[in-house]
Amino acid sequence: MNTYKFLIALFLVSTFSVFSQTPTDYLGKEFHKSRREALRAKMPANSVAVVFANPLRNRANDVDYMFHQDPNFYYLTGYREPNGVLAMFSENQTDADGTTYNEILYVQKRDARAEQWNGKRLGVEGAKNELGFKVAFNAEAFINTTIDFKKFDRIFIEKFNDDYRNSNREKAEIYDLVRSFKEKAAYNPKNFLSPLKKQIYEMVKATPIENSANVAQIIGRAVAYDPSLKKDTDLMQYKEATSDKVKKDLQQKISLKLDAKTNIDVSFLSSNLATLREVKTAEELKLLTKAVRISAIGQVEVMKAMKPHMSETELQGIHEFVYKKYGAEYEGYPSIVGAGNNGCILHYIENNKTKVGNDLVLMDLGAEYRGYTADVTRTIPANGKFTDAQKAIYEIVYKAQEAGIAAYKIGESMAKPNQIARQITNEGLYKLGIIKSVDEKHPYFPHGTSHHIGLDVHDPGNYGNFEENMVVTMEPGIYIPDGSNCDKKWWGIGIRIEDDILVTKNGPINLSAEAPRTVKEIEKMMAKKSVLNDFVLPNLDD
Ligand code: GLY
Ligand code: MN
Ligand code: MN
Repeated sequence: MNTYKFLIALFLVSTFSVFSQTPTDYLGKEFHKSRREALRAKMPANSVAVVFANPLRNRANDVDYMFHQDPNFYYLTGYREPNGVLAMFSENQTDADGTTYNEILYVQKRDARAEQWNGKRLGVEGAKNELGFKVAFNAEAFINTTIDFKKFDRIFIEKFNDDYRNSNREKAEIYDLVRSFKEKAAYNPKNFLSPLKKQIYEMVKATPIENSANVAQIIGRAVAYDPSLKKDTDLMQYKEATSDKVKKDLQQKISLKLDAKTNIDVSFLSSNLATLREVKTAEELKLLTKAVRISAIGQVEVMKAMKPHMSETELQGIHEFVYKKYGAEYEGYPSIVGAGNNGCILHYIENNKTKVGNDLVLMDLGAEYRGYTADVTRTIPANGKFTDAQKAIYEIVYKAQEAGIAAYKIGESMAKPNQIARQITNEGLYKLGIIKSVDEKHPYFPHGTSHHIGLDVHDPGNYGNFEENMVVTMEPGIYIPDGSNCDKKWWGIGIRIEDDILVTKNGPINLSAEAPRTVKEIEKMMAKKSVLNDFVLPNLDD
């Protein structure tokens, strides 16, 4: 090659690499493969799992919301496009032409016109090369498949929410794929029990009659959660029954209903994927830690930048700017920035107060980095200084959080931090005269403290005992909205402190510790200068 040609080639290569600079730190194909293998190891003989991609959601007219993959589907495949299906088999299958396989990924078809408008698709080749599937087809092949689903002893699916539209934009969109599957598998929701019903029936079956009052109580709570259970007359009679004989007959009747009338099972995937997903691998921890650190640094920058004249929206924007600066794609959930009384609305996402004034500002936000989301909350005084009343409540929440975090130990019950935090909160509220006794039922701490984070902000899990490499939030809070039944000086104070805790052999590690938490540290950080002080834009209101 002469020098001239070499320089042209170099130019083309470097131009290409400039334009192809996309993130390379997504989970690798080996990760997803290992997760499929771990799931397959749990599948009984002669079973198949069929997992669908999330649908695209329409925002308005011809504009859709940003697509977000179903986390279970992503965990198993790494595929980030809509209109996909994964079929996984417990044993090798053989095709008519002699090919053997134990998994197939169906993906949306390459389409030059669609790709010109909406971006590149992986297609079958990409599914093979980039995601590592030996067998991949266009999604249309799922509709025409000759796989006989009825021949399997068990078909594992996730519960269909049936909340997608037929947009008619693709020949094989998720609407068509699900419909086709339902026909092939003779899917009839009347034939299987919902996961909740199944759980309750199993409890009824396993519980001796002398302990049936406990189950009756659990049924009562389940009905409050899912009122459709009221239609289950056997269950309702069991709940109300007083005679042991009646209870025993009903127990038998209910136990019989557990015998499957169908090979379709909507519980297996959710419970086994929860078991897998609740413990993070090293590769996941790397991404999750990054998401958490980005979110904590966002809190730091806002602490420095916050001024009473700023709006909730503007503060939200500063957090989210920091996320983007680090290359985080999205927010893991709608950002919550609430000043004063707005901080008492747990999932306040309007964020539309135009001046935060001298109130406390509760900020619950999490960056999503390569699919993994943080969940970090700080509550800070807009003018940089806590009032005595704000400080008194803050110190209770802080103490509750610290004591709760200390219980994030391998083998400890995951319910423990919540109990500890609740006790400290009740004692604190009592000492301040906000409640009349430590046992008083009060509305000021209406949520639990601990949930897994991961691909979902509320990641699935079994909520038994803490295990190594779980990442779980610790988020006590006290919310005293205007008009509460206590001294007015407490009104409009809403405080939550939320950190993301990694459980290790050497004890808990607070992954979000970079964001100050104590009153002193927060006030010190807020006194620092922010580069955003000098970021002044033209006034458009005159
Ligand atoms: N951001 C939602 C939660 O704290 O659970
Ligand atoms: Mn949370
Ligand atoms: Mn949160």
